[in-house]
Amino acid sequence: MKDTISVGLLGLGTVGSGVIKIIRENQEDIYHKVGCHVEVKKALVQDASKIRTVDIDQELLTTDADEILYNPDIDVVVEVIGGIEKARKYILAAFGQKKHVVTANKDLVALYGEELFQAARENGCDLFIEASVAGGIPIIRALVDGLASDRITKMMGIVNGTTNYILTKMSKHQLQYEEVLSEAQAKGFAEADPSADVNGLDAARKMAILSTLGFSTNVSLDDVSVEGISGLTNDDIEYGKRLGYTIKLLGIAKRDNESVEISVQSTLLPQKHPLSSVNDEYNAVFVNGESVGETMFYGPGAGELPTATAIVSDLIAVLKNMRLGVCGKSHTASYNEKKLKTDEAIELKNYFRLHVKDEPGVFSQITTLFASQGVSMEKIVQKPLREQKAAEVVIVTHKSNKKVLDSVYDALLAADVVDSVQSRMRVEVC
Ligand SMILES: NC(=O)c1ccc[n+]([C@@H]2O[C@H](COP(=O)([O-])OP(=O)(O)OC[C@H]3O[C@@H](n4cnc5c(N)ncnc54)[C@H](OP(=O)(O)O)[C@@H]3O)[C@@H](O)[C@H]2O)c1
Repeated sequence: MKDTISVGLLGLGTVGSGVIKIIRENQEDIYHKVGCHVEVKKALVQDASKIRTVDIDQELLTTDADEILYNPDIDVVVEVIGGIEKARKYILAAFGQKKHVVTANKDLVALYGEELFQAARENGCDLFIEASVAGGIPIIRALVDGLASDRITKMMGIVNGTTNYILTKMSKHQLQYEEVLSEAQAKGFAEADPSADVNGLDAARKMAILSTLGFSTNVSLDDVSVEGISGLTNDDIEYGKRLGYTIKLLGIAKRDNESVEISVQSTLLPQKHPLSSVNDEYNAVFVNGESVGETMFYGPGAGELPTATAIVSDLIAVLKNMRLGVCGKSHTASYNEKKLKTDEAIELKNYFRLHVKDEPGVFSQITTLFASQGVSMEKIVQKPLREQKAAEVVIVTHKSNKKVLDSVYDALLAADVVDSVQSRMRVEVC
């Protein structure tokens, strides 16, 4: 093996700059771990005149991707430009040139992961994606290596830092959603366009990746049922607290026998559940294995150095494989046929918050409506809304199946005594 391995960076923004810093800072350690030096040979950018947060020789920069992709001196390509089509094209071109690839791009992996892994295998190349889910938390490695001997049955993840920051601030300071979102944008915790975060799409992409690897089933984004946090109010958070719950945007992936269900939604979690205490921009993934039982992985889900740590660790994995001559063999294609659970097979509890007419007999009509669908109530709170001559009723159901709970929801919407269904959320049990 060569004494120095050359890396081409596609992108030198937040994460790319962190990669250069970590390689520089830990060059000696990396040498001892893999027996060679690592040198960043070129970095692709859009604007070479931009001021960078890392000190670099201008000669390192290029605006021409071919200088990396078709450079015979470059062994490994690190893709951190983001986006889908260009990143996909560049990664496939890199495999065509027998270059190994490390990427942080969850948008791309969630959509084209299977295609990219296949292209890597066909070309005898490595593809590592640790940074694409939960930034600095080594959750991918935990699933594919650490827990490889087990059968994973459930993964629950707080995998979007922006929404966790918003929900934490709403809960701790009784602030409204819009107020916290603006503050998060001002502090750089939320993007100028936060839609992919707040509507749950970013978390759904990560849950699709985790489910594909954890269940060895080719899960696509369309298989994930997604709801975001934008409709959430302080009333729900306060009722949640009163009933012993914390509200989190939770990714849930479950496997029973051979069927899977994957969803992302605002969820009431018991306050004693370890994920309830994951606050601010932190991420965590809770994994159940048949043999290992419960495990939890916690840490920073994004940021320059945490994300770059995951990338450089992937780079070290590539270098070890190069030294052993086993590149292109780490990843196995998904081997379980995909069977998605039907709504009848999805068991869950629901939380409903209703505005109802403040008249005698209303409460018994609502109780009858639930009973007629075969759904029993676990917790009920009722409060008069004096100015509106109405009452607010909060109900947490016992477990039922999703199809039945959907019917309850439809019946509530149609009931004369119900003015509005203010919210409906999933409730998870410990
Ligand atoms: N930031 C995080 O904490 C984080 C965490 C996990 C995963 N990720 C993922 O990591 C990737 C990079 O994120 P980032 O935050 O580092 O992004 P970023 O700061 O916006 O950096 C993107 C870099 O790519 C370059 N670039 C973008 N499009 C290009 C194009 N078409 N041609 C040439 N260069 C191009 C930009 O060039 P200029 O500098 O000239 O504009 C910039 O250097 C994304 O896939 C993201 O989802 C990020």
